[in-house]
Amino acid sequence: MKNYFKSIVFFISLWPIYIITYQLFYNELGPEPVDRIINHFGEWTLIFILLTLSMTPLRKITKSLEWIKFRRMLGLFAFFYASIHMLSYVGLDYRFDFEPLINDVLKKKFVFIGFSAWLLLIPLAITSSDKMVRLLKQNWKKLHRLIYVISIFGVLHFIWLSKTIFFKPLIFLIILIILLLFRINFNKSSSKI
Ligand code: HEM
Repeated sequence: MKNYFKSIVFFISLWPIYIITYQLFYNELGPEPVDRIINHFGEWTLIFILLTLSMTPLRKITKSLEWIKFRRMLGLFAFFYASIHMLSYVGLDYRFDFEPLINDVLKKKFVFIGFSAWLLLIPLAITSSDKMVRLLKQNWKKLHRLIYVISIFGVLHFIWLSKTIFFKPLIFLIILIILLLFRINFNKSSSKI
């Protein structure tokens, strides 16, 4: 039953791929297909980061441990979509021409913070296995608190690139603040993640 649920969540998590494949196939990517692909995966990265952060509050609210079983998978999907997002920018926008790309990372603060968020996701993805949890012990918890920094960077990236907070970036910001506030309360009442 447990694996059955996990498989369902796995296939639902592939939704962003189904959408983009459909739009690609039926020529529905609009006049700026590259921008559309980059933005699509950027937005889904943020959604998956927030979904990952939602699992602990949901566990507390429903008093069910089931949510935690999906946390790792959702986190890995966040990394997967962040990597596609970054690679579509590097590959489709810059055709892997690294010089102007490095300039962009250094000069545009929204690219810099997005890139930093992606870099910070790498150690979390690498250490997501049960083996690494056992190996790193208490340090694993500390390391995985980076998800808070990553989520803040992700929302800042969205606000800065949009040049205005209205409205989508604001919605993401509000959801993030709620999730982080939950975390502060729970950290006081429980030492578990
Ligand atoms: C955790 C990592 C990241 C998150 C959460 C994220 C999130 C987002 C979001 C939400 C958008 C806007 C989507 C929309 O307008 O609907 C976006 C756009 C964008 N992101 Fe990211 N991003 C991340 C990493 C990166 C990285 C690593 C790069 C490049 C090195 C990057 C470059 C861009 C660019 C160029 C855009 C499009 C800006 C435009 O429309 O002109 N992002 N990202």
